Amino acid sequence: MDRFHIEGPVRLEGEVEASGAKNAALPCLAAALLTPEPVHLSNLPDVRDIRTMQKLLAHTGVFLSARPGEATLEAREIHAADAPYDLVKTMRASVLVLGPLLTRSGQVRVSLPGGCAIGVRPIDLHLAAFKRLGAEVTLEHGYVEAKAARLRGARILFETVTVTGTENAMLAATLARGETVLENAAREPEVVDLARLLRSMGGRIAGEGTATIAVEGVEALHGAGHAVVADRIEAGTYALAGAITRGDVAVRRCRPEHLEALMESLTAAGARVEKGADTVRVRATERLSGQDISTAPYPGFPTDLQAQWMALATGMEGESRITETIFENRFHHVAELQRMGARIRLDGRSAIVEGPARLMGASVMASDLRASAALALAALAAQGETVIERVYHLDRGYEKMEEKLNRLGASVRRVSE
Ligand code: EPU
Repeated sequence: MDRFHIEGPVRLEGEVEASGAKNAALPCLAAALLTPEPVHLSNLPDVRDIRTMQKLLAHTGVFLSARPGEATLEAREIHAADAPYDLVKTMRASVLVLGPLLTRSGQVRVSLPGGCAIGVRPIDLHLAAFKRLGAEVTLEHGYVEAKAARLRGARILFETVTVTGTENAMLAATLARGETVLENAAREPEVVDLARLLRSMGGRIAGEGTATIAVEGVEALHGAGHAVVADRIEAGTYALAGAITRGDVAVRRCRPEHLEALMESLTAAGARVEKGADTVRVRATERLSGQDISTAPYPGFPTDLQAQWMALATGMEGESRITETIFENRFHHVAELQRMGARIRLDGRSAIVEGPARLMGASVMASDLRASAALALAALAAQGETVIERVYHLDRGYEKMEEKLNRLGASVRRVSE
């Protein structure tokens, strides 16, 4: 297991490039199951979740040729319409093969993901959508089985906004007979990116980016090429790294319009934010003042930046109330930040951060992907050395984080055991 040794405090300065979005790449990879023709994906991030998804696709029979940052996938035949427990337990997003396998081969068997570090996270809404499309869904021995000769278009109203649930339903509906209308659909840029790929494969989709998505089923989809959208969460993490170190960081090759909620909060806190066509630059030389934030589905403040924002809030003047509305248990970073000297108390779904605290380096433990990123940010601002154990969580979703931070002036050392 690798760990990071981070020496602080530092002031980050310079430019960093955003990679392709993990959470857009995952459904795009799954979309390759919908056609026997080759699908070429570029701007793929080199992170562990992408390799896990590729392994799962290879297991189902997808022929894969991958080079750094890109892959060609060819699902000429489906050999195994299933996702075994071993893969699903390491990556919940494995459930994204449910929709494409069901609609392509008429049946699918996928392990239930179970709990994860940030909450219970059931897939009941995915399953309800497949039922609406005419599938017979059963649960046995920890596996979901779904069957349907051919899915039929339907109106699907999501009770709660669900990102991968929306994606799964879209993937399934592309080859269904007739029209599907998804209501209260997720509006995340990752959903929009998937719709773009499906359209270039011959799918008929409209309304992505709004709460109502219409999918007109087609008889077959064909091969296509697609460049995955920039990772707004990674970009936001580096923007926050600039702010927490009172530095000057420009994130290049990103989509500033996908970062509005974060940029508004940073501006309100007193940071200077400049947006270019594909760049955001954050300068924070002065004091920052505490801000209340509440996570919400896009375009609200992303839950995937909540932990990193909390790291920043520890050094802001005054109180910040940080409310998590998406997941019931996404505060594992609180105890670790406290070990570094942060003053935080929990109040139900909120964390109240009392700032500014003087952070000190400590030994801390990464518990999930974004919590790990928060600890890395805190370490950059803390006095002395921080050792972050279990950085495999970080490696799931951040491409070469230590290299990117070091190029900005950080001192991060990866130590492998
Ligand atoms: N939910 C249900 N039933 C369902 C589906 C969702 O109750 O069938 C609940 C969840 O438990 C949660 C809420 O609905 O409370 C929203 O969850 P959502 O389904 O939107 O989350 P997800 O699709 O499983 C994706 C991202 C997450 C990100 C969330 C929210 C991917 C692969 N994952 O998860 O990313 O936090 O949307 O934006 O796209 C991460 O990258 O670190 C990460 C966790």
